[in-house]
Amino acid sequence: MNSANTHGLGFVHRFVPAEADGRTPLLLLHGTGGDESDLIPFGLQLSPGAALLSPRGKVNEGGAARFFRRRAEGVFDTEDLAFRTNELADFMVQAQKVYGLAEPIAIGFSNGANIAWSLLYNRPETIAGAILIRAMLPFEPPSLPDIKNVPILILSGASDPIVSVETRDRLAQSLKSAGADVRYEVLPAGHQLTRQDLALASEWLRGH
Ligand code: MLT
Repeated sequence: MNSANTHGLGFVHRFVPAEADGRTPLLLLHGTGGDESDLIPFGLQLSPGAALLSPRGKVNEGGAARFFRRRAEGVFDTEDLAFRTNELADFMVQAQKVYGLAEPIAIGFSNGANIAWSLLYNRPETIAGAILIRAMLPFEPPSLPDIKNVPILILSGASDPIVSVETRDRLAQSLKSAGADVRYEVLPAGHQLTRQDLALASEWLRGH
């Protein structure tokens, strides 16, 4: 089955069933203006045969779908972020039951990476690990979550005009302080996905 509606799960989403044994399912979280189909080709290349679950963000910013509201570029509505994080986590718990999935590794790009970070902080039990592509630290968390040894790959762009060096460094540092098993790579790239992201993410996934 390859679906493109909510199926009673509250989020428009696509689900691609596993075609190979032993692959951790991937939760695909698109960037601003994307949708549930955006990262499917990336997921298929990242881990061929793995189950893919790809929801569409519910916030509409002038026609662009996002996972949570912002007041301006890089200025987030933290109440909405908390609400949307729980909503997404609840969707995942239900989807795992309906589709018979193990805990997924989240693959988040940009806005999708930022809500993946929030899942790690607020509902860490819902994901087995994360690849955060062009992520920033949405806010300085007041306490550290229990994410000891959770594998996380951060892929940042050296010339990213949206994510500052400071915010990506703080993101990596904060996750390391919480005990996560963090690999932090800064690529010769801007905000967009590159072939090097695919290569590094595939290599990292093979080891997890
Ligand atoms: C965000 O808003 O989550 C990030 O600034 C990146 C973006 O989506 O433009």
